[in-house]
Amino acid sequence: MRLAAVFASLLATAAASGTFLDLTAIVTHHNNSALECWRLADPFTTSAGAGTAGAATLNIAGLANATYTVLPPRFEGGVHNAPHPQLVVFLSGVAHVTLPHGTGDAFVVGGADGTIIAVDTTGTGHNTSYPSNAATRALQIPFAGGVVPPHTVLFSGACNDSSQVVTVA
Ligand SMILES: *[C@@H]1O[C@H](CO)[C@@H](O)[C@H](O)[C@H]1NC(C)=O
Ligand SMILES: *[C@@H]1O[C@H](CO)[C@@H](O)[C@H](O)[C@H]1NC(C)=O
Ligand SMILES: *[C@@H]1O[C@H](CO)[C@@H](O)[C@H](O)[C@H]1NC(C)=O
Ligand SMILES: *[C@@H]1O[C@H](CO)[C@@H](O)[C@H](O)[C@H]1NC(C)=O
Repeated sequence: MRLAAVFASLLATAAASGTFLDLTAIVTHHNNSALECWRLADPFTTSAGAGTAGAATLNIAGLANATYTVLPPRFEGGVHNAPHPQLVVFLSGVAHVTLPHGTGDAFVVGGADGTIIAVDTTGTGHNTSYPSNAATRALQIPFAGGVVPPHTVLFSGACNDSSQVVTVA
């Protein structure tokens, strides 16, 4: 971990207690795609909404639309850039993200921990393959106007789980 990332992590931990969403982000650094572990700045709150009252909820604002994609088993997405800065919610299957001009990789398993952010709209891009024998289903949800939710970078590289709800004391 870079020293700056260590300090960012310590600051994030020191500055904010609460329950947060950490998730892997695919970003562009010096024209190459790279992986980072992000923590969205807004904490979970207790819902007062109909049907969810009392549950932990996190509002992610400014989303443009959603595209539901079904990728066949063992599909090769190839090297590409994120088409828009977007949230990608993997519902099932597995995505394997590799970096042709970078270090590290990420396996994203569809389901509870399967939400990532892709904002590498420029540069050399990332390669996504779908190695499972079942279809991989995903919702691609661009941020309206390309505006990414406020966040801190916890460290360089993918989060341990692609996305995780973390309570900081
Ligand atoms: C979805 O949102 C993106 C980003 O704002 C936009 O470029 C795209 O045209 C939208 N797609 C549809 C079908 O509206
Ligand atoms: C950035 O990457 C793109 C895509 O590979 C490439 O076309 C472009 O020349 C690169 N720019 C720089 C400054 O390296
Ligand atoms: C993308 O990744 C897959 C799986 O690791 C690999 O087989 C394939 O050669 C890669 N494609 C490119 C264009 O790098
Ligand atoms: C990642 O996992 C390692 C090993 O289980 C653990 O020590 C570390 O605290 C975890 N980091 C985060 C940010 O969850």
